[in-house]
Amino acid sequence: MGLGYSLFVRPFLALMDSEKAHSRAILGIKIASYTILGRMLLRILYRPRKVETKAFGLDFPNPLGLAAGMDKKAEAMTGWETIGFGFIEVGGITEHEQDGNPKPRMFRSSKHKALINRMGFNNPGSEKMSEHLANSKKPSIPLLLNVGKSKSTSLADAHLDYAKTVERCEPYVDGFVINVSSPNTPNLRELQKDEDLARIIDAVQNYSGGKPVLVKIAPDLEDIQIKSIVDTARELGCAGIVATNTTITRPFESSIMSEKGGLSGQPLKSRSTEVIRLIADHTDGNWPIIGVGGISNAEDAWEKITNGACLVQIYSSMVFNGASVIKDIVNGLDRKLKSKGLVSLDQAVGLARGD
Ligand SMILES: Cc1cc2nc3c(=O)[nH]c(=O)nc-3n(C[C@H](O)[C@H](O)[C@H](O)COP(=O)(O)O)c2cc1C
Repeated sequence: MGLGYSLFVRPFLALMDSEKAHSRAILGIKIASYTILGRMLLRILYRPRKVETKAFGLDFPNPLGLAAGMDKKAEAMTGWETIGFGFIEVGGITEHEQDGNPKPRMFRSSKHKALINRMGFNNPGSEKMSEHLANSKKPSIPLLLNVGKSKSTSLADAHLDYAKTVERCEPYVDGFVINVSSPNTPNLRELQKDEDLARIIDAVQNYSGGKPVLVKIAPDLEDIQIKSIVDTARELGCAGIVATNTTITRPFESSIMSEKGGLSGQPLKSRSTEVIRLIADHTDGNWPIIGVGGISNAEDAWEKITNGACLVQIYSSMVFNGASVIKDIVNGLDRKLKSKGLVSLDQAVGLARGD
C-alpha cells in the first residue's frame, strides 16, 4: 500500500503536528480523485463492499460516514466518496465567517489514539459555503451539513444564525445536523436546553425544505438531560440524533489531557456507546441514531450498531489509521452480518438490546 500510505496515512498521522498537514491531506485526496485514473486507483486501493441501508428517506451504499469537522469546507467530497464512505457530513458552518481559536488548537496522543481539539468553528461562513456547494459536483452518496452558531451571535439570536445557514445551503445538501454540542464555542452547549433547542429546531425546519434535520449531542450530559433532548427533538419532528460530539471530561492523565477542548477517539468510545444505548432504549429503537465516538474497527462499529445506531461515523481513526480503516470497517461489518446469518444491516440494529 505504498502510494496509499504516502497519500493518506502519513499526512493524516502528521495532522496534529500542524494544521498544514491536515490541509495537505485534504488536498491530496482532492487531487488524487480529480482524474478518472486517480479515482480508479483509489477505488482499487480503498473501496469496500456494499452494505446497503436506508435511513430517514435516504439510501446509503454502506453505513459508515465521515464525521463533521474533517472536511469543514467541503473541499474533497468526490474523494471521500471514492475512498468508500457511505455518506459525508461537511462543516460545521456558521452564519458568519470566522477564524476559530488561536493555534495550536489540535493535539494528538498516538499512544491513547486520542485527539483534543479546540478549533472553535473556523469556517468560511454560510454565504461562501453555499456558493462553493453550488459550484461543486454533488456526491452521489448522502451529504449532510453540520450547522453551528457564530461566536458573535448571542444565545438569544442563535436560532436566526442556524436558520440563515440552513436557508443558504439547503439546495445543495440532503440533510442537516444541528450542532449544539461543540465544547469550543462559549456557552454553545447551553443551547441543548429544551426551550432553546426547540426554538432552533423550529427556525431550522422553516428553511430545511423538508429535508432531514438531526441534532448532535454532547456525551457529558446527565441521562435525564439526554432523554429530555431526545423528547424535544422527536416531538418537533427531527429525523434523528447524532451521538456523540467530543467530551470535555478527561478519563485519565496523559501529556495532552491538560489541553482545553474536546476529546475524541478511543477514550470516548464507551461513553458514546452508552449514550447510544440510552437513546435507543428510551425510544424503543424507533428513532434513527448516528453513532460516533472512538470507532476504529468493525468490532467498534458493530457495538454501536447492535446498541442501537443505524449509521456510524469516524473522524479520529482516519487520523491514526488512514483511509484503509474505511474498508476494514465496512468489509468487517459485511462479514459479521454473514457470519450471523443476517441478510441486512437493519437486522443488526439494536440486536444487543433484543430489538
Ligand atoms: C479537529 C476536530 C474538529 C471537529 N469539528 C466538528 C464540528 O465542526 N462539528 C461537529 O459536530 N463535530 C466536530 N467534531 C467532532 C467529530 O465529528 C466527532 O463527533 C468526534 O470526533 C468523535 O468521533 P471520533 O472519536 O471518531 O473522532 C470535530 C472533531 C475533531 C477531532
